[in-house]
Amino acid sequence: MALQIFRTKHVTSEQENIERGLKRCLSAWDLAFLGIGAIIGTGIFVLTGIAAATQSGPAVILSFIIAGLACAFAALSYAELSASVGGCGSAYGYSYAAFGEMIAFIIGWDLLLEYGISVAAVANGWSGYFSNALTAIGFPLPDVLTKAPKMGGLINLPASVIILLLMGLLIIGVKHSAKANNAMVVVKLITISIFIGVAAFNVHPENWHPFMPFGWFQTLPDGKTTGVLAGASLVFFAYVGFDAVSTAAEEAQNPQRDLPFGIVTSLVFCTIVYIIVSGLLTGVVHYTDLNVSSPVAHALFLLGYDWASALIATGVIAGLTTVMLVLYYGLTRIIFAMSRDGLLSAFFSEVNVNTQTPVRVIVLCGIIIALIAGFIPLGDLAELVNIGTLAAFVLVCLGVIVLRITQPDMHRPFVAPFGVLFPVLGMLSCGALMAFLPAITWLRFVVWLVIGLIVYFGYSMNNSKLAESD
Ligand code: ALA
Repeated sequence: MALQIFRTKHVTSEQENIERGLKRCLSAWDLAFLGIGAIIGTGIFVLTGIAAATQSGPAVILSFIIAGLACAFAALSYAELSASVGGCGSAYGYSYAAFGEMIAFIIGWDLLLEYGISVAAVANGWSGYFSNALTAIGFPLPDVLTKAPKMGGLINLPASVIILLLMGLLIIGVKHSAKANNAMVVVKLITISIFIGVAAFNVHPENWHPFMPFGWFQTLPDGKTTGVLAGASLVFFAYVGFDAVSTAAEEAQNPQRDLPFGIVTSLVFCTIVYIIVSGLLTGVVHYTDLNVSSPVAHALFLLGYDWASALIATGVIAGLTTVMLVLYYGLTRIIFAMSRDGLLSAFFSEVNVNTQTPVRVIVLCGIIIALIAGFIPLGDLAELVNIGTLAAFVLVCLGVIVLRITQPDMHRPFVAPFGVLFPVLGMLSCGALMAFLPAITWLRFVVWLVIGLIVYFGYSMNNSKLAESD
């Protein structure tokens, strides 16, 4: 029943799409590019350095492989549900079809955390490269204005300011077009190619020793976690975003065939890139030199390639801007969908008559994210994003299993192979990565969920339009 209600509400017909101004214009490769555009960002350009220096050492390459495997299992589940359930609601919609309203609300609430905090985290990465570029051209910003209080500064001002600028762009209705996205993906790939091209000829294998200085996993006295597995839980952030492909279902030419292709292709491609980049990065400089805010550019700078370092910084600044735009736009879209379904107040889904954009929700999110980006450091933000995303992945995998049992005859254009093996492995591996995150991240996550449950029982349950249709 939930599946039918979900489809009636969220899977639009060709005619409805035309009425809403959405065209089915995205090809399979556009979708793969969309995924690559949303995936490659702060994770590889910044977190690789932090993870190598503080958690994994040169074995950060293993951390990337482990996190990539967990994502691959989850991606197959996403591919199956995006092709069979459909709709642009992503994990929120799939959970509604599989589990009903309450779990769907919790996942939607969880996605708000994932997308909102991701934007703040990417803004932190952006700020690192931007500040270094300013320093390189002779206008260094003081530390108090580029670091969060916990890192010895006052506020990360560039991170807050870029969010407010993007807020302005979204208000005036700048939509992320497939063409602009493709151009940015090319910029990012050129940036990465320059790094690979230069680094490949400057590897010093002695930098790979010791390979695993922090072991597999340990909890430190201050509650932080370290080791290759903790590193995998951190660099998992680098893969966040492939699920964004499934939100483009309404604009895909042939969603049932192309969404699985887009999801799987973008993930496989990025995993290969990450393995190469992380291997080279720890091969060209010692891992202890990588705990800086722009490690990829910094490594080339240490090697004496100032021109390549500057080019990379420019490419990263441009590339990360689009990641933030996609995620910020995605966030407003999820709030919009939940508000349309009555799970959040209609206040949020009101569209401004002048700009034709949901100004209220854009401004509210912008101010909150700008504050978070200014005052909380990148590592803490990334871990919070990861725990939320991993929880969503676990439920999507479980959703595949539940729907195989409750809806055995549902038309499934794409089926994850080997029965329920991959969804089960997805649940186990994503659950394990959650377990490797520090206790403080768990606490923050639980607090967020408790607030969500209060909202659900205090408001959403009584105002849900989905329940009305039921
Ligand atoms: N995966 C995205 C990034 O690394 C969120 O920036």
